[in-house]
Amino acid sequence: MADHMKTSQPRIVLGITGSIAAYKAAELTRLWVKAGITVDVVMTEAACRFIAPLTLQALSGRPVWTAMWDGSQDGMQHIALSRGAQAIVVAPASADFLARTAQGRADEALSALCLARECPMFVAPAMNVQMWTHPATQRNVARLRADGVKVLGPDSGELACGEIGEGRMLSPEAIAAAVSAHLADDAAFGTLLAGRRVLLTAGPTFEAIDPVRGLTNRSSGKMGFALAQAAAQAGAEVTLIAGPVALPTPSGVTRVDVISAQDMADAVFAHIDRADIFIGVAAVADYAPAAPAAQKIKKETSDTLTLTLRPTVDILAELAKRDERAPKVFRVGFAAETQDIAALGEAKRRRKHLPLLIANRAQDAINADDNEVILLDDDGAHPLPRMDKTLLARRLVEEIARRFVPLSPCGRGARGEG
Ligand code: CTP
Repeated sequence: MADHMKTSQPRIVLGITGSIAAYKAAELTRLWVKAGITVDVVMTEAACRFIAPLTLQALSGRPVWTAMWDGSQDGMQHIALSRGAQAIVVAPASADFLARTAQGRADEALSALCLARECPMFVAPAMNVQMWTHPATQRNVARLRADGVKVLGPDSGELACGEIGEGRMLSPEAIAAAVSAHLADDAAFGTLLAGRRVLLTAGPTFEAIDPVRGLTNRSSGKMGFALAQAAAQAGAEVTLIAGPVALPTPSGVTRVDVISAQDMADAVFAHIDRADIFIGVAAVADYAPAAPAAQKIKKETSDTLTLTLRPTVDILAELAKRDERAPKVFRVGFAAETQDIAALGEAKRRRKHLPLLIANRAQDAINADDNEVILLDDDGAHPLPRMDKTLLARRLVEEIARRFVPLSPCGRGARGEG
């Protein structure tokens, strides 16, 4: 990271795009600088037509980033700019910028920076009312929300074009307040599971038939990996037992790769004594070939081939059995059902003695980037709206943290599981 980016103060990256409201970004910069926040400003070419970079440079006391290929600035530094920043706030965000970001474009410095970010992102739209209400813009905003971008405003009132309606950028004071409130929420999220040890299973399992074939399912592992990431972000020490999936390991998570249901069960039982919370997200095979062939099975002349399957260990049920008299771990299950989700999920919750079960429609959840779930606990069914799996994972971590009651050694059994 370049020296000028190193700072012990909180730092925000302020993106400015082409809109009359660009002048309000100067006031926003001033407010943040006054509050002791370091502001790195990135402007699109269109923004520079509305307000001079020199103004922002003077107010922020820092270099202003304008073009990705500007020889005076290191071509890759704009990506590093978001590292260590509390947030990227794009204010004003034009309709064109929202469209490009919704598509994941990276054809200018600010878009590339947003795509490469690791920190939260906020946009404060500013545009003419027709542009704002156009289905294309609304579609782009919905996409951005689903991708985890927080949308601040816009306000209603008299617009620069003379029309009256929705599209006016929030005031600099309102933007600064909203960003602070969200960051405080994030900081609170970061301590939800502090000091807790979370063990999760994710992905499918693969049950060998012979050395080259096997039985598996279509689970992508996305939900389990997202939950592992959210639990780590919430401050937990996370161990993820992953079936065969090619997903990257979330940062701060310890991963144990396994293949079969038996491997997964062995890994869980090896780690469970250190866990406070167990979340079974994996789609574990219920049956495995009773006697996998040592050599490749050859095609035979008969029309049919019969495989004999034996049941696998039910990891969750086994943990419940072990905890029967002395619950040590807060167990959370998932249920993938194709019909009667709430009723079948609740039956599963009772059968596996779980304080919390998350039920979803298998057809919708498997391999998708979003999901709609119903939480089932002793108080009944609590449906959540459909959302992106990353957002859902954070929400589920909040729900789990809210229900989790740490057990003191003498308080075992006090959790009142159903
Ligand atoms: N599970 C498990 N071990 C198994 C099977 C399932 O730990 N051998 C866990 C899953 O990780 C999930 C929950 O049990 O948290 C429910 O899994 P699901 O496949 O929906 O249900 P099953 O118990 O397998 O029942 P069925 O297939 O009949 O719906």
